[in-house]
Amino acid sequence: MSTLLFLRDVARNPARMGSVVPSSARLAQAMADCADIQPGHVVVELGAGTGAFTRELVERHPRNRLVVFEVSATLAGPLERSFPTVTVVARPAEALPEVMAELGLGRIDRVVSGLPWALWGAAQQARILDGLVPYLAPSARLVTFHYLHSRALGRVRTTRGLLVERFHDVSFSAPVWRNLPPALVHVAARPRAGTAGAA
Ligand SMILES: C[S@@+](CC[C@H](N)C(=O)[O-])C[C@H]1O[C@@H](n2cnc3c(N)ncnc32)[C@H](O)[C@@H]1O
Repeated sequence: MSTLLFLRDVARNPARMGSVVPSSARLAQAMADCADIQPGHVVVELGAGTGAFTRELVERHPRNRLVVFEVSATLAGPLERSFPTVTVVARPAEALPEVMAELGLGRIDRVVSGLPWALWGAAQQARILDGLVPYLAPSARLVTFHYLHSRALGRVRTTRGLLVERFHDVSFSAPVWRNLPPALVHVAARPRAGTAGAA
């Protein structure tokens, strides 16, 4: 899917996008490596944009159930057409509890997030995380990314604090230099309050 499509959405909704170009293939690979998806895992992607991470996930794990949230209808339509095996939800990540019920899903094993956390205050970030946590399997893992400069400016501190409150293990990957701008993957594993049953 085109960078042009992404740029159009940035122009329409700069506060919702958090970047001006899609993530690189190298960052998508780092996200998928850190997610450590196993056969049978139910995977949820949040904020798929033009599908930089979706493509990597589908190519590596074509048999896993993948549910993708993308709030922008202009981006969700092309995602649906490009990835026919994926369940694309053109609603905000905040709607996850209702969507899980609608899809008849009770458990999430992996969350791959492209959401622009650094743009948001603690309340909005907490709302999304608290919607997710009740569905997470005890061995679940969430991966997201931050730009290196955001971390240097201290904008990642709030997200990290919220993750530490909700997960036993929280860490950063090595920097991914081949991304514009360079980024790192934030990994949160073993939720403190995952109560999910079988899907
Ligand atoms: C930084 S872009 C990342 C896109 C893609 N994952 C990538 O890395 O290239 C953030 C994406 O999150 C979407 N988004 C923003 N707020 C959202 C929300 N509350 N729920 C779902 N998607 C959201 C935006 O529309 C945008 O496509």
